Amino acid sequence: MFMRASSAIMRLSSWLGRSDRPHKFGSRRLFTALLLALGGFILLYLFVLPQILRFRFRFGLSRYDLGFYGFGPSRTYHSFDEESPIVEISPAGAICDQRYTFLAPRGDSVKHPGPMILDAQGELIYKKYNWGTTQDFKVQHYKGEDYVTYWQGDEEDGHGRGSWYMLDSTYTPKYIISPVGILQGDLHDIQFTVNDTAILTIYEPIPADLTSVGGPELGWLYEGVVQEVDIATGELLFEWRSSHTYPPETSYEPLGDRGHERTLGYDYFHMNSVDKNDEGHYLVSARHTHTVTCIDSSGKVLWTLGGKYNEFDDDGVATSFKWQHDARWRGPKRITLLNNAANDNGDLSAVSQGLLIELDIPAREAKVVTIYDHPQHMMAVTQGNVQVLDTGNVLIGWGHSAAFTEFSADGEVVCNTHFGASAYFTFGRTMSYRVFKDNWVGMPDTLPDAAMVGDSVFVSWNGATEVASWALEAWDGDSLTNMTFSVVDEVPRSGFETEVPFTPAVTSYFRVAAVNAKGEVIGRTEVASRGSTPQASFSSDHPWGVTIIMIFSLGCLLCGLYCAVFRRLRRRRSATGGLYQLVTPKDDEENNENGHLPI
Ligand SMILES: *[C@@H]1O[C@H](CO)[C@@H](O)[C@H](O)[C@H]1NC(C)=O
Ligand SMILES: *[C@@H]1O[C@H](CO)[C@@H](O)[C@H](O)[C@H]1NC(C)=O
Repeated sequence: MFMRASSAIMRLSSWLGRSDRPHKFGSRRLFTALLLALGGFILLYLFVLPQILRFRFRFGLSRYDLGFYGFGPSRTYHSFDEESPIVEISPAGAICDQRYTFLAPRGDSVKHPGPMILDAQGELIYKKYNWGTTQDFKVQHYKGEDYVTYWQGDEEDGHGRGSWYMLDSTYTPKYIISPVGILQGDLHDIQFTVNDTAILTIYEPIPADLTSVGGPELGWLYEGVVQEVDIATGELLFEWRSSHTYPPETSYEPLGDRGHERTLGYDYFHMNSVDKNDEGHYLVSARHTHTVTCIDSSGKVLWTLGGKYNEFDDDGVATSFKWQHDARWRGPKRITLLNNAANDNGDLSAVSQGLLIELDIPAREAKVVTIYDHPQHMMAVTQGNVQVLDTGNVLIGWGHSAAFTEFSADGEVVCNTHFGASAYFTFGRTMSYRVFKDNWVGMPDTLPDAAMVGDSVFVSWNGATEVASWALEAWDGDSLTNMTFSVVDEVPRSGFETEVPFTPAVTSYFRVAAVNAKGEVIGRTEVASRGSTPQASFSSDHPWGVTIIMIFSLGCLLCGLYCAVFRRLRRRRSATGGLYQLVTPKDDEENNENGHLPI
């Protein structure tokens, strides 16, 4: 088999490289070779290389993870314009935390990025299409009420220029939060405190001497700025700047060609989370210095864990995290973080993991209590977060990889959810900076949506969490000026969109009412008329992108092979004269063609 294949390759290469008859066949041969090379290259690059290099040779991947349904499988609806991901939950029969999932998918496989809520089964609850980039979608509490918050703006150069939005339970924006005295806020974090204040992350370009890292003397770096502001008044309560403590040479990030311009500063610190405990101590995670820093309310640095200024002795693991994200207080002496361990996809041996670390602060000792390690060696080359649920379970969002995993407190995988095909995770075609689970009551102030398809009406209500069933109400036929309706059928809610079949009682006007678990009507669609509305257009959730690339590259390969093999046979046939004579290629003929005369 191998012999045959190698001799075929040799023949093919000798045919491609043959220099006799250059005028007649040269350009066609070149074209064929280009087709073959193009098709082969695309297939190799897109499908073979990532599997070989980045697959980490995981066997037993599901069809979903192999990309049979697309890089980021999604589905469409009749009554709603946006798409939602199709998720795969494993292992079979997994009992996941039943709360809602908050994420903000983005990437090439995500048509419309924006904040999204899914239920525990991965069914859509809420989706908003936002311009630019949306990050860090989560539930926070302010003055006794629940809000969903997110950052929205432009992502540039690994950080953000934008603002934070607070939406109430009707999804109405109530507050827009901006930093004080600095134009724009960064995408990495906003953390509300029990005192109704918000702690913000900001990247500010500042002039700096970068000679210590081989850069210009009059250069620029991105300073990490922490601000705490009063949400109601916008008053600035606290500010801390990274450059006062950490000089450029504490960074592990290569300078590269950065640092010469204000808009292309040296991102030496890359602050990605801020937190505050009841003692009033701030906790700041900086990816590029590999540090977690504790700061008191006067701005004084109390200690540094990790990186070049590390003050702690460890058990061999607790201070050696790299490129980490999301450092959080978990009590006075405990913190969690996501040790990304990798800075780019080149580091193939890197494995990302959640860490629960215990600190003996007076003795400056750190030890790892629990490692949340994914059995499939999940890698979050960028982004990601760790959330400790009140059940004690721990949720890890794998950032750049379209997955989130719920672990038991002692580190066993309870439930693993993919919202993209894992074979292609390294391409970041679908990702979510962070993923959270939380309780939420959504009561949108919009009307429920309806679309008639055939003999059914499809109903949905973007963001509504309280709908238990849908009641089909038909017009009584009495008065057109004072219309009255009666319930003719009631269908339990089945996911984001519910199909309600028409009954014979619906002859003209109808509407559909959303009914909650107590049997109360909480919303109604507009009145519609059976048969008068154009049918909702059918759209397919077929992964066209992948299919087209596959067809194109396979086409190139087939065309190339056709040109290479069949045309050659035909030519040889005509060369031997007999139109109907099939000639088997012989070795001596081959030698002839290669310029060796038989002796
Ligand atoms: C809340 O305010 C109190 C009183 O000023 C303060 O002691 C406490 O540290 C604050 N907590 C946070 C998390 O900011
Ligand atoms: C409309 O009909 C309802 C129910 O029959 C009745 O109670 C109501 O008074 C009517 N309203 C008007 C403006 O006629």
